[in-house]
Amino acid sequence: MMAAGGGAGSARSVAWGASALLVAALLLSAPSATEAYDSLDPNGNITIKWDVMQWTPDGYVAVVTMFNYQQFRHIQAPGWQLGWTWAKKEVIWSMVGAQTTEQGDCSKFKGNPPHCCKKDPTIVDLLPGTPYNMQIANCCKAGVINTFNQDPLNAASSFQISVGLAGTTNKTVKLPKNFTLKAPGPGYTCGRAMIVRPTKFFTNDGRRATQALMTWNVTCTYSQFLAQKTPTCCVSLSSFYNDTIVNCPTCSCGCQNNGTSPGSCVNENSPYLQSAIDGPGKWTGQPLVQCTSHMCPIRIHWHVKLNYKEYWRVKVTITNFNYRMNYTQWNLVIQHPNFNNITQLFSFNYKPLTPYGGRINDTAMFWGVKFYNDLLMQAGPLGNAQSELLLRKDSMAFTFDKGWAFPHRVYFNGDNCVMPPPDAYPWLPNASPLTKQPLMLPLLAFWIVLATFLAYA
Ligand SMILES: *[C@@H]1O[C@H](CO)[C@@H](O)[C@H](O)[C@H]1NC(C)=O
Ligand SMILES: *[C@@H]1O[C@H](CO)[C@@H](O)[C@H](O)[C@H]1NC(C)=O
Ligand SMILES: *[C@@H]1O[C@H](CO)[C@@H](O)[C@H](O)[C@H]1NC(C)=O
Ligand SMILES: *[C@@H]1O[C@H](CO)[C@@H](O)[C@H](O)[C@H]1NC(C)=O
Ligand SMILES: *[C@@H]1O[C@H](CO)[C@@H](O)[C@H](O)[C@H]1NC(C)=O
Ligand SMILES: *[C@@H]1O[C@H](CO)[C@@H](O)[C@H](O)[C@H]1NC(C)=O
Ligand SMILES: *[C@@H]1O[C@H](CO)[C@@H](O)[C@H](O)[C@H]1NC(C)=O
Ligand SMILES: *[C@@H]1O[C@H](CO)[C@@H](O)[C@H](O)[C@H]1NC(C)=O
Ligand SMILES: *[C@@H]1O[C@H](CO)[C@@H](O)[C@H](O)[C@H]1NC(C)=O
Repeated sequence: MMAAGGGAGSARSVAWGASALLVAALLLSAPSATEAYDSLDPNGNITIKWDVMQWTPDGYVAVVTMFNYQQFRHIQAPGWQLGWTWAKKEVIWSMVGAQTTEQGDCSKFKGNPPHCCKKDPTIVDLLPGTPYNMQIANCCKAGVINTFNQDPLNAASSFQISVGLAGTTNKTVKLPKNFTLKAPGPGYTCGRAMIVRPTKFFTNDGRRATQALMTWNVTCTYSQFLAQKTPTCCVSLSSFYNDTIVNCPTCSCGCQNNGTSPGSCVNENSPYLQSAIDGPGKWTGQPLVQCTSHMCPIRIHWHVKLNYKEYWRVKVTITNFNYRMNYTQWNLVIQHPNFNNITQLFSFNYKPLTPYGGRINDTAMFWGVKFYNDLLMQAGPLGNAQSELLLRKDSMAFTFDKGWAFPHRVYFNGDNCVMPPPDAYPWLPNASPLTKQPLMLPLLAFWIVLATFLAYA
């Protein structure tokens, strides 16, 4: 930073080049392979809690609850799948509020067979509209779990399980092992079950507490690397001070390949549009995207719209290019240094996220307003949602130079979106990257180094 601020021209360009390289390297490595968790949500996890409510002659009845403690990653349709391996020869006599996907071999049992005899059962949620006698609180949402930030009442999912051929006291019960959580694809890794202090349940008036006979917890964390997903969104940029619209990088989410896989996308005005939408991928939920150079199902556009004396205004537009998906309860996470002073926001909900314990306040989560734009419709004329942000300038840092007005990171539904390379950002007229004082890039590099350091520390 010192060299960049005070040196001669050539020293400056060297410093600029070095910091640009550093920034580029760090930006490229941001969602890196080794990142076991997300630096914007370092404590994010899904905790699965088993509360033994009753011992039975051959086992126990437990209520299992999954809590989504992630700031901005939810579980969408077609929902979660929870699995584990029994420690002994346990069976599931019955379940309420969920079911196993397979019964397995119950031929040893005379009379009424168990619900499931598999050593490694897979559990799925029941659908909404399940008969009341098969429901318990927090069940039957087709495996969809929202975030606490967006909808705290729907951030957990529960079912009741009656286990047989198991231990019947807290000394003899064996904890299930090898938990797996699919959402529904890969990405989550679950730790070992650990016995914790028994949960206390309070009556509605709060005047009496009962408690579980025994409780154990399992924590699962998400890694974008494990999910091995191709990107699902990209970012495009524009500004009032430069006519250039910086589009999403070509092939951000895939390439149009007419030779080997025709039909990987469909044109907006194609006569075959409807038959493509109803094609074989319809029931598997396979995306069908509009043909674009980026091929992403979702594009986020950031437009620097207006410059006032003390404020500036940004318009953010989310466009859905997927003909087979209505995104319910979508969310957006954006990182920008001026987010410490969001003054006004139109037609989105908003919450600042301070992943570094409040020391850096540059990240915010946005989501739709209920019944207004919380449903992002499938590709087409209605497939977009937009908002405007009014930001108060910080006289020390604010500049339209060097791409400062553009976001550093953007996530849609928890997935990191592909950004244009920093050297393609719209410039201020008459500004080339080498002629002006390079104040912001080293500062940006500094923040990124600090953030990376904090993330790994
Ligand atoms: C899971 O998230 C909760 C809530 O943020 C937190 O209290 C807990 O420490 C986290 N657990 C782990 C193992 O990170
Ligand atoms: C098991 O239950 C006994 C009382 O029945 C209690 O004292 C003990 O702490 C319990 N152990 C665990 C691990 O919950
Ligand atoms: C744990 O589960 C995974 C996937 O279900 C399986 O591949 C692995 O062998 C299991 N490990 C043990 C020790 O059961
Ligand atoms: C176990 O999970 C529950 C629910 O998330 C939580 O309230 C409790 O603090 C956890 N216990 C421990 C010891 O982590
Ligand atoms: C694929 O076809 C579309 C129109 O059908 C065309 O615009 C596009 O350039 C083609 N892409 C390649 C890689 O040939
Ligand atoms: C999206 O919602 C609209 C209106 O509710 C419905 O007509 C359409 O079929 C839905 N699309 C998908 C892919 O579910
Ligand atoms: C927001 O801007 C106002 C006016 O410049 C300033 O007084 C305030 O401290 C800023 N807030 C933060 C969190 O930087
Ligand atoms: C972060 O900035 C927002 C305004 O954008 C403000 O409302 C919030 O209080 C700030 N949070 C912290 C921890 O400074
Ligand atoms: C606008 O920005 C682009 C970089 O994206 C640059 O090549 C162009 O020269 C800029 N236009 C003006 C008028 O400065």
